Amino acid sequence: MHSVTDSVISSKLSELFAIARNVLVLTGAGISAESGVPTFRGGGNTAVWKGMPFDVISSAGMLQRDLPAVWEWFNYRRGLLGPVKPNAAHHAIAGWQKQFEHFTVVTQNIDGLHQAAGSRDVIELHGSIWRARCFDCETRHELRDLRIGQEVPSCMDCGGHLRPDVVLFGEMLPPGAFERAAAEAQHCELCFVVGTSAVVYPAAAIPEIAHAAGAYVVEVNPEPTPLSEICDEVLTGKAGEILPLLSPTSASSSQLMRSVPSA
Ligand code: APR
Repeated sequence: MHSVTDSVISSKLSELFAIARNVLVLTGAGISAESGVPTFRGGGNTAVWKGMPFDVISSAGMLQRDLPAVWEWFNYRRGLLGPVKPNAAHHAIAGWQKQFEHFTVVTQNIDGLHQAAGSRDVIELHGSIWRARCFDCETRHELRDLRIGQEVPSCMDCGGHLRPDVVLFGEMLPPGAFERAAAEAQHCELCFVVGTSAVVYPAAAIPEIAHAAGAYVVEVNPEPTPLSEICDEVLTGKAGEILPLLSPTSASSSQLMRSVPSA
């Protein structure tokens, strides 16, 4: 059984964490795994719905072909997410907000758990399962305000059909979201990549941009990813066990500091 002490936090990272002013975190489904939200990949399996791989039911093509089926899939997922709470990793990141002069949270997740933990101004690259958008007038609606039944919900402004405000496979990201995240990655000193398989672009390009701009890039994941080789530090383990070690107040970080032999 892998334990967190197998992956210690270097003194370089601890020092950088203590002095950095501009920090960015990119998260993926893995950060919500300890909250009970299934990931899409990792552990060798991929999610399936009624015999359809998730990237078929969650696609622009399915939206055109069978909107009620897409709503049924997202209603099911929203049902799963309802009782889910943010975990120690989400709370650690929310706590970092006060630590750094300039702090950016970029997520691929649509579950809203960063915001539930207190993170503000989260860049949601793939939208949110808690919102719907009108096909006709593009108005966004909070789903918690809507009564969702079997039928496709209608826009309260124009009566048009609503669709989940989630980026589906084959669709563009929300206007400006990637551009803003990329601009932040260009200027951060420290970039954390937490719980993503780093195979879906353009999200996976964010840490590459930070790396190319000279940031110290740290990956947190129980498994290696295509990104691991460009990272300055890879912390192998669960986000909920590792991220709290980096909070400024946690005494334990000093115990686990790995003394980098002086040159
Ligand atoms: N802590 C950290 N990482 C974890 C944990 C954990 N407790 N548990 C699993 N992981 C890692 C897995 O090893 C895997 O590398 O999280 C990653 C999850 O990968 P994916 O399921 O591919 O999720 P993600 O990278 O967010 O997918 C990107 O693809 O399916 C689309 O739109 C969807 O936003 C999603 C995008």
